[in-house]
Amino acid sequence: MSNFWSIFVIVLVVGNILGMVWLLFSTSKGSDVNEAETTGHEWDGIKELNNPLPRWWLWLFVLTIVYAVGYLYFYPGLGSYEGSLGWSQKGEFEQAIVENNARKAEFYAEFKEMDIPVLATSAKAMEAAERLFGNNCSTCHGSGGGGAKGFPNLTDDDWLYNNDPASLVATLTNGRAGVMPNLNLSPSDVTVMAYYVKHLAGDEVSEHVQLEGKKRFATCAACHGQDGTGNKALGAPNLTDNVWLHGSRIADIEKILREGKRGNMPSFKSILSQDEIRLLSAYVLTLSSSEEASAE
Ligand code: HEC
Ligand code: HEC
Repeated sequence: MSNFWSIFVIVLVVGNILGMVWLLFSTSKGSDVNEAETTGHEWDGIKELNNPLPRWWLWLFVLTIVYAVGYLYFYPGLGSYEGSLGWSQKGEFEQAIVENNARKAEFYAEFKEMDIPVLATSAKAMEAAERLFGNNCSTCHGSGGGGAKGFPNLTDDDWLYNNDPASLVATLTNGRAGVMPNLNLSPSDVTVMAYYVKHLAGDEVSEHVQLEGKKRFATCAACHGQDGTGNKALGAPNLTDNVWLHGSRIADIEKILREGKRGNMPSFKSILSQDEIRLLSAYVLTLSSSEEASAE
């Protein structure tokens, strides 16, 4: 606070308190009740007496003034004067952060030595991870990790990227961006390829679609693989498993082929600590059905 504003605040605060004292004593007129003195207001013969405040009430006001003076001595309030106790909001906040970090460090200490698959079996760790998931991940992946259109289901055993512990940590730390380019296909090619993709996933289609699709799939194979089973290094989905990130209808698939698609899993590097990311990676492992099945 600059000197000017400091003095400005001090003058205002002190001026206000002195004003209050003056008001209190200039209007106090002893404790006598005087029946004759009225405010001059009268309704239907009822007069309003102009009597002093009861003493105890007056003293309450005096007490608040004394309290204010004491407060301003101990705590900041007079411009840039810091108060004799040296208390500050910022200090209190920083202290709370330090305490919180210490509590966190203590909590995570016992998990430091555990590998991620071991963490996944710790009920205490997974309970904390569930809360972290609710706060950071469920907006996109759903509260149970079930996903939504465009946001992968984390409870099935279908993975865009690898699901080994190191890959999961990498996914959460750095984020992922899966890019399905707009390939400028002609409208008739879009339709043929959409049916062909459904064919890869098991649908019956005409011979024409099978022949033409297979020919044109060379462009797609670079990312989705020769056989259409995808590429986990690129996050290119397996097109043969009948699990759909962007919808299973022909219209959904045509839209992707016409416009391309960019999937963005944000980076949590600056939001979560490495300890928290390890806990969440373990939690993601517990969500997928195969883990559940093998645990049973
Ligand atoms: C803003 C939305 C959003 C948030 C928040 C988010 N994700 Fe994601 N996540 C995505 C999207 C979109 C993808 C798919 C990326 C792609 O298409 O390449 C993804 C992918 C993933 C994958 C890879 C899935 C696979 O099949 O390989 C994992 C694991 C994952 N997220 C876990 C998490 C966790 C854990 C959190 C919380 C810390 C989280 N995500 C928060 C949107 C989000
Ligand atoms: C440069 C790599 C690349 C090429 C080439 C490519 N794709 Fe993709 N494709 C992707 C990625 C990555 C995604 C996932 C997008 C996301 O993360 O949201 C995807 C998504 C899709 C989807 C949506 C899958 C789902 O589960 O909803 C379909 C369908 C698809 N591609 C079909 C094709 C076809 C057909 C071709 C060829 C005409 C093709 N792709 C060419 C990378 C590619």
